[in-house]
Amino acid sequence: MVEVRDEIPAVDEFCDLRIAAGLSAMDRAAAAVALPRSLHAVTIREDGVLIGMGRVVGDGLHVQVTDIAVHPDRQGEGLSRLVLDSIMRHLASLPRSTIVTLFADVDWLYQKFGFAVPNASVGMMLKQWPERA
Ligand SMILES: CC(C)(COP(=O)(O)OP(=O)(O)OC[C@H]1O[C@@H](n2cnc3c(N)ncnc32)[C@H](O)[C@@H]1OP(=O)(O)O)[C@@H](O)C(=O)NCCC(=O)NCCS
Repeated sequence: MVEVRDEIPAVDEFCDLRIAAGLSAMDRAAAAVALPRSLHAVTIREDGVLIGMGRVVGDGLHVQVTDIAVHPDRQGEGLSRLVLDSIMRHLASLPRSTIVTLFADVDWLYQKFGFAVPNASVGMMLKQWPERA
């Protein structure tokens, strides 16, 4: 049975699902500190096993949608909409002045929820730490 919950995933299942979905590996000690600081998190479980997730991080003035992932065995079944529905409900509860950003690996996922490439600014990302040395 598939269950959608507004809850923070545990460190190992979070890190494992990121990797399984092809997202970058995260430092597990850093994840243990960061996950409880989530503004909002959603999990999708089947028989208790994490198969989908997403988070909103930030401070309420600036927030970022992140860690959106569905296990490859369960992609293409519409599960990401359940994740995004929960996230959009959370975003709707924030003040209208809140700036909401994300880095989209797949823009088609977010466009239908109203996200668009801004005209006046361009997203930038600091190079990964190992490459900065
Ligand atoms: C991206 C990802 C979260 C999508 O999850 P999913 O559960 O497989 O996606 P869904 O089955 O819910 O499909 C989402 C919607 O996009 C549509 N879609 C799927 N693939 C598409 C494509 N290549 N182009 C356009 N639309 C597409 C679906 O038809 C569906 O539309 P609907 O909501 O109107 O029915 C999942 O593939 C994943 O985890 N990918 C790897 C990690 C990743 O890239 N995360 C996003 C980081 S920004």
